Amino acid sequence: MYKDKNHTSINKIITMILIVSLMMFLFTGCGGSADTDHNSDATSDTGSSQSDDKIRIGISLGTMREERWQREADMFKEYAKELGVEVLIQSAEDVPSKQIDQCENFISQGVDVLIVQALDSEAAGVICDPAKDAGIPVIAYDRFVRNGELDYYVTFDSVKVGEIQAQFVVERAPRGNYIWLKGGPEDFNAHLVYQGHKNILQPLIDKGDINIVLEQWCNGWDPNEALKHTENGLTLVDNNIQAVIASNDATAGAAIQALAAQGLAGKVPIAGQDADLAACQRIVEGLQTGTVYKPLRKLNKAAMDLAYALATNQDPMKVMDSSLGTWTKLNNGVKDVDSFSVDVIAVDKDNIVDVIIKDGFHKLEDVYKNIPKDQWPQI
Ligand code: GAL
Repeated sequence: MYKDKNHTSINKIITMILIVSLMMFLFTGCGGSADTDHNSDATSDTGSSQSDDKIRIGISLGTMREERWQREADMFKEYAKELGVEVLIQSAEDVPSKQIDQCENFISQGVDVLIVQALDSEAAGVICDPAKDAGIPVIAYDRFVRNGELDYYVTFDSVKVGEIQAQFVVERAPRGNYIWLKGGPEDFNAHLVYQGHKNILQPLIDKGDINIVLEQWCNGWDPNEALKHTENGLTLVDNNIQAVIASNDATAGAAIQALAAQGLAGKVPIAGQDADLAACQRIVEGLQTGTVYKPLRKLNKAAMDLAYALATNQDPMKVMDSSLGTWTKLNNGVKDVDSFSVDVIAVDKDNIVDVIIKDGFHKLEDVYKNIPKDQWPQI
């Protein structure tokens, strides 16, 4: 009898420990670390319990490779606090199958809305059906999710990005030998940027003014690929290159490294996108012609406002802030998706202070770090 009683209390203690551990597990957001700053496979939230009826938004980032995505993860968290919602953020660290698993996990956790920055635009489509079955709307963020019944898309106009990049270069090198670096073919944006390049370049190619020495994709937007392709292009024509078309800042940076090795950096026009800090520094140093600034905070806010509207059963078409962007329809291979487009801005040496620094995107002392202080602009 005594023995039995003793057993019962031990059982009770064990049960208590299990309950407390389970509560701690839930309280810390399924045991994931709340750190997206180190490119980790991270889950973060506002630090609140999941047991209340707070709106929960699952955010799946395919990559954190470029500087912009790291900033955006922080923006999601900051704005979630303002809205009083909980965000769960995971990065698939450049592994497409991992992104699908993470999205499925969000669906089984019963998030209210799923925001997806697709690593592979085509592969990510499979997530739409299970989400639909579970009644969870899916918003594609910046990169299109193709081949699925996607609900919404919040993005920048990538064709315009490509046009700006090519325009920057063509104005400075209207004729001659070109190296053409395209982005990651798995990202649909890369194809849109390429379309933008073509809109500007093709008439000049047809006229015979521009000769494409080499045209290559950079898988995964990998700067190493850009470096290798640029070196190959330079070798093919014995450094007789008048321009390089790049698709983002990171690949432009690598191409500039290859140009620098031949003493051509600053002599050959080239532009990127994202206004990465390193690119802004190169612009003021005269090594990169320009970049395309994408107001990330606007994009981020638009995606969160849209998610909030959906989670609270409001009509997004009526509640979205029109100062952030405009509604359009874009076809993802399955349907015309209601898409919200945020405008982009061409940036070069002349307007970098007004657009990038005054907007608080980068600090003057960071952008001009490599320039003697007496040459810094007065602001
Ligand atoms: C694109 C995005 C660009 C750039 C690129 C590299 O999808 O639109 O802004 O960051 O990815 O990751």
